Amino acid sequence: MATYVVTGGAGFIGSNFIFHMRQQHPEDRIICLDSLTYAGNLETLDSVMRDSHFRFVKASITDREAVFRLFDEERPDYVVNFAAESHVDRSIESPGVFLQTNIIGTQTLLDACRHSGVKRFHQVSTDEVYGDLPLDRPDLMFTEETPIHTSSPYSASKAAADLLVQAYHRTFQVPATISRCSNNYGPYHFPEKLIPLMIINALHDKPLPVYGKGENVRDWLYVTDHCRAIDLILQSGRVGEVYNIGGHNEMRNIDIVRLIVKTLGKSEDLITYVTDRKGHDMRYAIDPTKINRELGWSPEVMFADGIQRTIDWYLTHQDWWRNIVNGEYQTYYQQMYGSR
Ligand code: NAD
Ligand code: DAU
Repeated sequence: MATYVVTGGAGFIGSNFIFHMRQQHPEDRIICLDSLTYAGNLETLDSVMRDSHFRFVKASITDREAVFRLFDEERPDYVVNFAAESHVDRSIESPGVFLQTNIIGTQTLLDACRHSGVKRFHQVSTDEVYGDLPLDRPDLMFTEETPIHTSSPYSASKAAADLLVQAYHRTFQVPATISRCSNNYGPYHFPEKLIPLMIINALHDKPLPVYGKGENVRDWLYVTDHCRAIDLILQSGRVGEVYNIGGHNEMRNIDIVRLIVKTLGKSEDLITYVTDRKGHDMRYAIDPTKINRELGWSPEVMFADGIQRTIDWYLTHQDWWRNIVNGEYQTYYQQMYGSR
């Protein structure tokens, strides 16, 4: 029986990872460490809360005392760090908290791993650390050797965390791995992000705010495929290595929005072009050759199926997102989109 500390498990990908692990490794124990920021939601974890193999601890990864106390109590074998400020637009408005959580929080966890000794520290990073690719060079993709070249305070903070993980591995022999995944979508995605925001606005017949010309390209992966990849890296990945995760599924934002509009039977007149994001990355594209060759990972959910499942989930889980969009989200939306 192994013990896992999963940070950020009340958020989108972390919660899906907890569900994956409970299903695939029911004998293992999972401790979710989450400070429940605006993006964390305990309701998401309802189905595992009373599970004897699960414990929830509310604390920040930047709180040294709380993190060290937890590690002393639980002596985790594995630590998987999902906890982060994750939204690029918010990082443009208020970078400070991104540096605190994403950099100092990661360092605090690394120190706790050194102190307590773990089998593995896994850092959930992002393809955004590689910067972006031009639209007119479809042959180019991010490999693990692509230089770090960040665009936003969010991606800069994630890149800084990656460098710290590599430094702690080299200098202190912390047994660490890093994964860099492309854009995820699926259930429990916070409605500030493109896909859930467009689904929910379309359901309300509200304008669908497409940044710039909508030509930016993202490489979409269904969230459970990401969770399977991290599980594989924990079991069989080589310590000290970086693994890119992505499924060759590049799409333009405008095409995603049109697909959502069509699936929901709404009018394309809802699509509204708004002022572009500052420093907006043009295109992301992951080359997943390494994880495919070394660990045999490839995506299982194709986009046509995944987006249908996602839209169905938002239609059948309206309580989950209505609780969010009726709260402080209104103020956020007004600030972000009011005068765009
Ligand atoms: P999210 O914003 O949905 O969830 C983040 C979670 O972290 C929330 O539960 C929040 O309460 C928690 N958290 C924030 N600050 C914390 C702190 N100081 N201490 C403890 N908990 C804290 O994010 P997500 O989309 O699920 O992303 C999870 C991770 O995956 C992030 O590290 C992100 O950089 C990375 N990532 C995301 C994507 C994507 O498409 N969403 C793709 C690649 C990598
Ligand atoms: O690539 C991985 C990254 O994907 C993760 O590291 C981030 O945590 C995650 O938030 C995501 O970042 P993006 O900036 O790509 O995701 P977002 O959903 O915010 O935006 C996707 C694209 O859609 C992007 O080109 C901006 C555009 N967009 C977004 C919103 C919210 C719009 O056109 N309109 C919008 O209202």
